[in-house]
Amino acid sequence: MKEMASLLRIVADETRLRVLRLLSEIPLNVTELTTILGLAQSGVSKQVGTLRKAGLVQERREGLKTFYRLSEESEVPNEGRPLWALLMDRVRTAEDGRHDLVRLAEIIEKRAGGAPGLHEKLLAPGESWHAWSRMILTLLPSMERAVDLGCGGGILTAELARVCDEVVGVDISGPALSVARAHAERTGLSNARFIEGDMSALDLPDSCCDVAVLSQTLHHLPDPMVGLKVAARLLKSGGRLILMELLPHEEAWVIDKLGHLHLGFAATDLEAMMEQVGFRMTSLETLPPSRGERFRAVQACAVWE
Ligand SMILES: C[S@@+](CC[C@H](N)C(=O)[O-])C[C@H]1O[C@@H](n2cnc3c(N)ncnc32)[C@H](O)[C@@H]1O
Repeated sequence: MKEMASLLRIVADETRLRVLRLLSEIPLNVTELTTILGLAQSGVSKQVGTLRKAGLVQERREGLKTFYRLSEESEVPNEGRPLWALLMDRVRTAEDGRHDLVRLAEIIEKRAGGAPGLHEKLLAPGESWHAWSRMILTLLPSMERAVDLGCGGGILTAELARVCDEVVGVDISGPALSVARAHAERTGLSNARFIEGDMSALDLPDSCCDVAVLSQTLHHLPDPMVGLKVAARLLKSGGRLILMELLPHEEAWVIDKLGHLHLGFAATDLEAMMEQVGFRMTSLETLPPSRGERFRAVQACAVWE
């Protein structure tokens, strides 16, 4: 109870919520935050200090500057994690945070010496990216069932529910599934269901899905081939695997803090693994680095034949 009460006290402040919203986009220093928020630097420093002490933001030195980034869920005090995930979900989509995002775009542009187009991350297609992805999803043919293996907080599960008769989110973590269920409920989706457990012991029949998603899940599995084999078992002939993974990185802290078991995968290794299981690759794309991010990702699609 104490940790939950403390989290609620800390976030019951509009300025702190604005700071969290901004840091959920990119790491920023106090000067940049002050410019965006239009408040006195001493006040902003104090609020950032409060958030840091509470474990909600993390500090990183870069030369003479100190940057702050939003804490990962696993860095937030234990009891507060489910609340934290729900809160950040709301904070990120709050309409009245838009003005701050426009100023954030200017800061990003300034960092890059005013080169045109650098606020694209935020402004093109702008905060409407979510609406765009939904609209594009409606162009896909309707599918019977999708499975989201290692669904975490269920954001993708909910998106898939819009184009499938049924979607099943699977995760070994009970707290993650509480967040996923709450998200599906809020979104008003009745065709998403969730199974708690290890995907390798999943009680679903063979060949029951049109789509299997493995988004940032393989790096949590002792043997990543197991995740691919589970996907293969569940897919109908002609079914699609959609995979997103981290490329090799050197951020070893993710082992203790986030429970990663692998520091990313080379795109060629992922391709070889998928082919070894029997998938036919249809696309493999390494995503370009994005500013302020320490990780790069690779996306792949494959068919189970
Ligand atoms: C980094 S999260 C990815 C969440 C989500 N797919 C996304 O892209 O946002 C990895 C998830 O895999 C889950 N996971 C790890 N091992 C698992 C297993 N053996 N079976 C099912 N889920 C597992 C974790 O609990 C965690 O929620």
